Amino acid sequence: MKRIIAPSFLASNFLKLAEEVAMVNKSEAEWLHLDIMDGRFVPNISFGLPVVEQIASATDKFCDVHLMIVEPEKYLADFKKAGADQISVHIEACPHLHRVLEQIHDLGMKAGIAVNPHTPIDFLRDIIQHADVVNLMSVNPGFGGQKFIEHTYIKIKELREVIDQKGLNTLIQIDGGVIQGNARTLFDTGANVLVAGSSVFKAPDPEKAIADLLGA
Ligand code: DX5
Ligand code: ZN
Repeated sequence: MKRIIAPSFLASNFLKLAEEVAMVNKSEAEWLHLDIMDGRFVPNISFGLPVVEQIASATDKFCDVHLMIVEPEKYLADFKKAGADQISVHIEACPHLHRVLEQIHDLGMKAGIAVNPHTPIDFLRDIIQHADVVNLMSVNPGFGGQKFIEHTYIKIKELREVIDQKGLNTLIQIDGGVIQGNARTLFDTGANVLVAGSSVFKAPDPEKAIADLLGA
């Protein structure tokens, strides 16, 4: 099964962004994870289009943009222009999720559904076939450096069952509190993509931290 590490730039040193991107470019990470927060869907504001554009221009790796914003449909084309290869939108922020996923695909990007910790996997059953990835949030979105919510393991199993039953190859992404100590169990439980912010960028050797998470 596919295993990918996606370092989350929320935890990076913004004064040394070029070096941080260069580190990820050299590393075994296949994706870059870029967290966009609007202070409305989540109680925090992160960074926006100009930063995504500069990061994307400095890498050939896959740019995974996680929109934690209300009305994400308003900004899809802008993020595509900035260099996004994939956009995930929150199921809780999209009353017309099917339409939004189609819009992302029509713009030539991969489409993801992000799911808050309290949102049941059952809510994905009639829409999952339209997504390339499901981002299961393993913390409440809005901040880096939080503690992993253990109930996520049950959700991974449920989601894996849905994906297998339907014969899909949707990726399962885990976002929040991923560390060396849980990476292996997450992969073994059925996750494909691990987002890691603090455990990569705050590590003494971030490139090694990425390799260790992948080989965990
Ligand atoms: C949280 C973000 C995450 C965050 C993960 O709202 O979606 O991507 O950056 O950070 P860590 O790995 O530090 O929990
Ligand atoms: Zn994220």
